[in-house]
Amino acid sequence: MDFDLPIIAPSILAADYTKLGEQIGECLKGDIRWIHCDIMDGHFVPNISFGPDVVAATRRTAPEAFLDVHLMIEKPDNYIEAFSDAGADLISVHYEACPHLHSTLQNIRHHGCMNGVVINPGTSVELIEPVLNLIDLVLIMTVNPGFGGQLFIDESYDKIRRLIAMRNEKQSNFLIEVDGGVGLKNIRKLVETGVEVLVTGSSVFKADDITKRVKELKEKANLGRKDFV
Ligand code: DX5
Ligand code: ZN
Repeated sequence: MDFDLPIIAPSILAADYTKLGEQIGECLKGDIRWIHCDIMDGHFVPNISFGPDVVAATRRTAPEAFLDVHLMIEKPDNYIEAFSDAGADLISVHYEACPHLHSTLQNIRHHGCMNGVVINPGTSVELIEPVLNLIDLVLIMTVNPGFGGQLFIDESYDKIRRLIAMRNEKQSNFLIEVDGGVGLKNIRKLVETGVEVLVTGSSVFKADDITKRVKELKEKANLGRKDFV
């Protein structure tokens, strides 16, 4: 699947759930096509968010959107079918939650979704080297998972650079996504560093004008494109 890079991926974790459909609509008006759904179970991370029903509601609200479902849950294999049935286009799972990561990633594709592996700030990129040719996306957590509105962890830049070097060495073609603490101040540098998908939660949904904000983020992100003329 071809994507118009870089991609701004609003995380609906940060949305006002009393008007989720309306706020997703405001993102779509800003030419957003990729929606990030943060699923939390209160075990793998110290917070509980929402499940397949909210992903299905997002699918109904945005039939054309690309739904990127980030499972911050234990035993993700048990829920791949439910999130695929709910309308997920991509399902990403945490390296730290998958004792049989290779099999889990195959299971995601078996259910018709693109697959991704996620690593926490304390996990080195070298640990996912064995699966880099099996995946469509790597998500580097740039905050400790569980809550929106946290500060970006600056050591993440080195991880991004190391991952890009590994991708080049292996001639892989997975996308590189970051999640946590991304906003107007750092999005250009992240794109310049080579990030292709940028999850933005509070920067989008806490803004006074969501549509205006996603356009600002896209403009800033495009300034960081290597081919930007
Ligand atoms: C953490 C969540 C957040 C969220 C983005 O587990 O995954 O990173 O999506 O939140 P902001 O953009 O507000 O940091
Ligand atoms: Zn996420």
